[in-house]
Amino acid sequence: MWDCCSEDLEGKLECLSDGFAMPMGQCGFVLEAGGMKVAIDLVVSDLFYKGTDISRRRIEPPFPVASCPGLDLILVSHDHADHLDRALIEDQTKRNENCRVIAPACILDSLDIPDCSKLYVGNYGSVRLGGLFVKAIPILHMDYENSSPGFSRFYGYLLRWNGLTVFHGGDTLSSRRLVDDISRYRPDYVMLPINGRDPERLSKGIVGNMDACEAIDFAVSVGAKALIPTHFDFFKENGADVETCRHIATGRMRVVVPVPGRCIDLGQIQGGQI
Ligand SMILES: [Fe+2]
Repeated sequence: MWDCCSEDLEGKLECLSDGFAMPMGQCGFVLEAGGMKVAIDLVVSDLFYKGTDISRRRIEPPFPVASCPGLDLILVSHDHADHLDRALIEDQTKRNENCRVIAPACILDSLDIPDCSKLYVGNYGSVRLGGLFVKAIPILHMDYENSSPGFSRFYGYLLRWNGLTVFHGGDTLSSRRLVDDISRYRPDYVMLPINGRDPERLSKGIVGNMDACEAIDFAVSVGAKALIPTHFDFFKENGADVETCRHIATGRMRVVVPVPGRCIDLGQIQGGQI
């Protein structure tokens, strides 16, 4: 459900101030960062149960693809329908020749968009766009897996601008390596999945993620100031209780619960206000 203050969401996204993030459900966010309007794992298209016109989304699409405000940069963690919106990417790059897309190489190869829009950064590769630094960190969607040497199928993204550091973990488990990769950057925020995993979901091909306890432990281990839990609200069959996450974290880690359509002022963390 979109928050009541999400009326005219397109307008709000258009006018985001630097350092603000708009949660868009599941792992999707739109950020204003270093003069760039950045979407991470943004999915606005509807998703349907196979062979039906029944929506799988518990949160309805916020607006039609063509109504999405212009984006400067689209980051995609991996090739799953709740993270990759091909129609959105194709529409954005058609409308705006300066829109850039960072995604695993196997996704970029398959997208029908101009070559100049594709940024192949590779494992631990980084780019600076405007005032924003972006680094691609291999993550483990059950396992680390490259599609070709040096190019992972799954990325998390580290973003730095104006003294803020945010790590968006896409879909991932925790590992010693990932803790080492991220802790050196002392992120202000980590955006991490909390839906966990179990044999029943695995048997249906639903690949697992960190659960709330693991996400909190990870956030503590990398020295984050706050956890923004993700991957709990899109699908009935693969969600989590975000209030339990907040409860478990009490006294250990600040938790900022993302509400679709309600802006988060990321800069507040620097003044210790949240
Ligand atoms: Fe996912």
